[in-house]
Amino acid sequence: MSQQLNNFDMVIFGATGDLAMRKLLPCLYQAHAAGLLHPQGRILGVSRSQFDTAQFLAKVETDSKIHVKKNFSEELWASFIARLQYLTVDVNTPEHFTELSKIVKARTETDNVIIYLSTAPKFFAPACKNLANVGLNADNVRIVLEKPLGTDLQSSQEINTDVAHYFQENQIYRIDHYLGKESLQNVLPLRFGNVFFEQVWNKDFVKSVQITIAEQLGVEERGEFYDITGALRDMVQNHIMQMLCFVAMEKPKSLDADDVRDEKLKVVAALKPMTSADVDKNVIRAQYTDSGSLKGYLQENNVPADSRTETYVAIRAEIDTPRWAGVPFYLRTGKRLAARSAEIVLNFKEQENGLFGANPNRLVISLQPDETISLKLYVKQVGSGLDVQATDMVLDMGKVSDDRRAEAYELLLREVIDGRLGLFNRRDELEKAWEWVMPILDNWAVSPIKPYGYAANSWGPKEAQDLLARDGNAWLEDQA
Ligand code: BG6
Repeated sequence: MSQQLNNFDMVIFGATGDLAMRKLLPCLYQAHAAGLLHPQGRILGVSRSQFDTAQFLAKVETDSKIHVKKNFSEELWASFIARLQYLTVDVNTPEHFTELSKIVKARTETDNVIIYLSTAPKFFAPACKNLANVGLNADNVRIVLEKPLGTDLQSSQEINTDVAHYFQENQIYRIDHYLGKESLQNVLPLRFGNVFFEQVWNKDFVKSVQITIAEQLGVEERGEFYDITGALRDMVQNHIMQMLCFVAMEKPKSLDADDVRDEKLKVVAALKPMTSADVDKNVIRAQYTDSGSLKGYLQENNVPADSRTETYVAIRAEIDTPRWAGVPFYLRTGKRLAARSAEIVLNFKEQENGLFGANPNRLVISLQPDETISLKLYVKQVGSGLDVQATDMVLDMGKVSDDRRAEAYELLLREVIDGRLGLFNRRDELEKAWEWVMPILDNWAVSPIKPYGYAANSWGPKEAQDLLARDGNAWLEDQA
């Protein structure tokens, strides 16, 4: 059961932006509606816009309220809104920070200050410098950094170094919203809290692992951002990597943030580095092409007609640890695929036992759209004899408890308010992940091989099927 959180002051930079309106404020509302926010907890929106609080609240009313999809009541909304204030702050204007610090420090009831930088990373350095100038980097201040944290290893190191001039690592909360997903967090209790799985969670029993994040949406109105980003940077370096870490890590010494993060770091560090030839062989990049009424990527707004940006990527990776040596990890993500899903699949090896044939079990952990855990088992067919048939034993996580399941951002905001770092990325993990993807980016920058095409609303390019067929494997949707 959840309990009331600590008293807090949260300053949101970029408060008039899309993320604040669509996610941060609606998620804070949900925590408020559930009675989790301290009665005196305050939210101070800041941005360059020349608004006063009344104008900001009017914007929240039109742009944010519509994103509150559940548990809405006018009364609760009004009491939530009463927590909000607004201040115009230009990150490059030191005087604005003096004003900001007066408001924050005028409070004596809390010393729990959260600064959420929901802005482009180029504003992080000036914001941190000016915050530090007015003492808003003291030990009681936590800083939350929204992704993307860089576009390659070097830019990520630069951002981290800039922030580290003013904040200690244990004050820094780097967001990856996949870490806020209940069903991803559940991988650790599932593996280490039950007798069944951990015994077989290794190369002796597991034939291959698949990690998929599939989206049905295309790039929508984000063509400009997406075209300089691509699927590898947008999804693999961060979200897929987090899923991989939870599946592949060794048992942490404890559940303390740094013990868990140490084990995650070891997984990323053990990913086999790729040469350029490995990239040609083991990485497939592709773009969606038009199909039916759906546009192809190259026809989307703000996408150059000769763009080589990938909207799909599939990778065959290996982890060089005693547990996983030789087991292929297939990672993939794409836009405009046939269905929306995020899942982890463990395909177990066939165990020939002489009585019932060689029946490969399979475990599917689905994060979305439904949160389920499904284990493929072989059971007796009805009738004479002992022939077996495959069936899925399915656990619907939504039915395990009546407790409200919070959206990822709400869960993460609650962790920040109470100062728990476990669900946030440490600098070393993040930079290791960049290190691993760099050979792919470097290869693509000069490769004569153009991205393959795949029809919008399909499961991706044929070449991604071939990638698995080579090892005698198939993606989940192609399996029996
Ligand atoms: C974001 C990406 O980080 O994650 C988006 O920038 C993507 O492109 C989104 O659509 C997917 O998140 P979710 O939670 O809907 O799977």
